[in-house]
Amino acid sequence: MPESHTKITTKIVKRDLKVVWHPCTQMKDHEKIPLIPIKDGKGVWLRDFDGNKYIDAISSWWVNLFGHSNPYINKKITQQINKLEHVLLAGFTHMPAITLAERLIKLSPKKIKKCFFTDNGSSAIDAAMKMSYHYWKNNGYHKKTKFISLTNSYHGETLGSLSVSNIDLYKKTYKNLMKDTIIVESPDCFLKNEKCSDKKHTEIMFDKMLRSIEKNHSNTCAVILEPLVQCAGYMRMYHPIYLKLLRQACDKYNIHLIADEIAVGFGRTGTMFAYEQSKITPDIICLSKGITGGYMTLSTILTTDNIYNAFYDEYTKLNAFLHSHSYTANPIACATANASLDLFEKNNTLNNNKILSKYILESLSDLWNHPNVGDIRQHGMITAVEMVKNKTKKIPFNWKERRGLKAYNFGLKHNVLIRPLGNVIYFMPPYIIKKKEIDLVTNTIKGAIDFATK
Ligand SMILES: Cc1ncc(COP(=O)(O)O)c(C=O)c1O
Repeated sequence: MPESHTKITTKIVKRDLKVVWHPCTQMKDHEKIPLIPIKDGKGVWLRDFDGNKYIDAISSWWVNLFGHSNPYINKKITQQINKLEHVLLAGFTHMPAITLAERLIKLSPKKIKKCFFTDNGSSAIDAAMKMSYHYWKNNGYHKKTKFISLTNSYHGETLGSLSVSNIDLYKKTYKNLMKDTIIVESPDCFLKNEKCSDKKHTEIMFDKMLRSIEKNHSNTCAVILEPLVQCAGYMRMYHPIYLKLLRQACDKYNIHLIADEIAVGFGRTGTMFAYEQSKITPDIICLSKGITGGYMTLSTILTTDNIYNAFYDEYTKLNAFLHSHSYTANPIACATANASLDLFEKNNTLNNNKILSKYILESLSDLWNHPNVGDIRQHGMITAVEMVKNKTKKIPFNWKERRGLKAYNFGLKHNVLIRPLGNVIYFMPPYIIKKKEIDLVTNTIKGAIDFATK
């Protein structure tokens, strides 16, 4: 964080705070925490108006894949803007949407055949909930109205997506507005018995899910969960066996499995999609964030012909899925997503990421000796370090001490944007990051932990 702002920064901040209400922010914090206006971005770097540079170590809330102002994506966007900026997708269509749907379906398991476009992560979750509920209704299952989700889960901020989420910080205030959801304890491996492997712990925890499904299946539409990593839930992780067991139970008890791949999709956990590691086919897959390489808002729901066909009928039967958003499948957003998929192929991204993620984990591994580090965990390109008050008992620091905020400030002073989740510092970079830049981030994380736990 710059010690002193130049006149131009001060002016911009003043203008901003007069009119802009920022997301996920207690605005009073900005009396003490300086807002940072960003002038431009290139690759992993963001630059402010005072010339300070910051590595975007969190991919700007997990969206950026191939760096800021990527020349290839920029070129593709320009080409698209010069052809068609937008057209409604009802009754009309366009090549960027068709191509993107084809490519996403090709990247999915065989049974996934249809792509329904929405326009941000939360809206994809809401639409997926409606689609699942409506599927059962069209098939005569009128009692199926509920959803099962996990403790510590996060699926978005709209009333539907928040209803199936389970983080008090975001949800508790709005409890009276929420739809009733069945919550099952997460298989999160952080607090497992040390002698138990991640796989064993995850299997044991699945028992709770199985019991809930056995009890509630007749009134449950779907289980919705974030495959492998509960990202907003402090980057807590679990073993792929959970999804395998869940798939079997959902099949047995006639319940949909909705995979919220909004944060973990597009290579974040090592494979293109996290559910692949469990070798399963979800009934509904929600994608957003990285879908456009971090450029603009777009989301999709992928699903099977079985679900699609339940809506395919004479208009007068009123069985259709009459869900829409004005900017559904915006051509510029779809062209951007196609450009991002091109880069996966051109850059051999998933293979290169294996080298990067190994290097990141090795670089952070000496933190195991830190007296206030309770865990270092990784799934592919998501690595998290959990700061604790008591290492042996994994007792957390009091949240009111805001140790994560101290780490954040330390990071900015050292040219790295980390934005801890509570006491958890995580590293989720754009895939074009270089080893030298990783060194800067991992060294800064170590310094930030020393500073924040003092
Ligand atoms: C797993 C998951 N689902 C849904 C969402 C909501 O997406 P959006 O912020 O685009 O509404 C998020 C956002 O962080 C997420 O992490």
